Amino acid sequence: MVHYDGVMFGDNPFRASLGSSPPLLVGRDEVIEDFTLALREGPGTHERVTLLVGARGVGKTVLLNELEDTAAEHGWITFSETATEGFVQNLKLQIGELLNGERATGKRTIQIGPSFLRFKQEGEGPSQVTGNLRSLLSQALDLVAENSRFNERPSGILITIDELHYVHQNEITEFATTIQHLIRENREIAVVLAGIPTSIRPLLASQDGRNPITFLRRANRIDLGRLPDSKVREGLSVPVQDAGRTWNDQALNYAVEASGGYPFMIQLIGNYSWRFADGEEISLDATQAGVAKARKKLGQLVHEPALSDLSSEDRRFLAAMSLDDGESKITEIAKRLGVSDQQAYNYRSRLNEADLVTTGRGTADFVLPFLREHLREHVVTDLLRIEPESSQ
Ligand SMILES: Nc1ncnc2c1ncn2[C@@H]1O[C@H](COP(=O)(O)OP(=O)(O)O)[C@@H](O)[C@H]1O
Ligand SMILES: [Mg+2]
Repeated sequence: MVHYDGVMFGDNPFRASLGSSPPLLVGRDEVIEDFTLALREGPGTHERVTLLVGARGVGKTVLLNELEDTAAEHGWITFSETATEGFVQNLKLQIGELLNGERATGKRTIQIGPSFLRFKQEGEGPSQVTGNLRSLLSQALDLVAENSRFNERPSGILITIDELHYVHQNEITEFATTIQHLIRENREIAVVLAGIPTSIRPLLASQDGRNPITFLRRANRIDLGRLPDSKVREGLSVPVQDAGRTWNDQALNYAVEASGGYPFMIQLIGNYSWRFADGEEISLDATQAGVAKARKKLGQLVHEPALSDLSSEDRRFLAAMSLDDGESKITEIAKRLGVSDQQAYNYRSRLNEADLVTTGRGTADFVLPFLREHLREHVVTDLLRIEPESSQ
């Protein structure tokens, strides 16, 4: 066997961390295409307000970034924020910066170029802006419209808000109301929002049709979930080929299977298999070791944070479920835990609300890929020792 010293192929192409764009974004072509068309088609096009929903690690942030890039390529200006406390104010500061920049330089037009057109909050900007979000955005849209005429290409403003969370409902309402006004005025504006289902659900809950409920309900909602095997295969093999290595057929099949269609696993498995391989070809051995390591990482980065938010009863319920190979029967879980069927159903509905289990007729199953395996390895042995905490 020939050993290479890392000189025959490039650097590890995979990105084993949340929020880092993958070498190849697979399975999102349709979303990107629809969004691009919406930018071209003009105000009022449905996909101009898009809501990305899905579990941690499913690829919301990187898709958001991709849509920002697409918009920039079409000459759109992007403002991106995370929905933390004060995000509307931060957004106003960003817009203020754009407007002030224009006044300071006295320029009548803005140059088109992806890097120039992206605004992200960076450190301390100006702390004062005058006007509300609506008036600031209107001014910025005027500026862009003027620029569009000059460049003879339509452009507008895209705002992306990541990690949407109901605790910031008041600000989200303010934001949503403003955007709706601007859409009604036929302005060239687009919005992409992203969040996990539990953080968004309360925002969508019925409340006599006030904002942000109507705004979010009308949005083009994209539920991100597992990818088909063919896409996973592409996501694993193309970056390897591009970086000058190959994937052993059997090993690639093993990797695809082990990903469970979960986007984050493409990167984790790819990254570790690449590291463990020592030849031009990524072997089955290296891939098996890579998968084991990837699962461990997934446990740290996704499962443990998800479990730490739960009560110990809920954790015990999940641990009891993990003894099954597929969906669990609730009556069976009740027996394992020594609780009544009704209690078991209560646990199930709470865990369903928390996006940890899906429900069927008298059954429950896991939402997060590999949580079952994680629980089997780390929690079940403890569970069998722990008595129900009825005294708590
Ligand atoms: N469509 C995709 N194809 C390949 N890798 C992806 C895809 N979507 C996400 N990933 C990878 O999965 C990880 C998680 O993505 P991220 O956008 O941070 O998820 P989320 O924001 O939903 O928690 C990142 O490493 C990213 O590169
Ligand atoms: Mg994210």
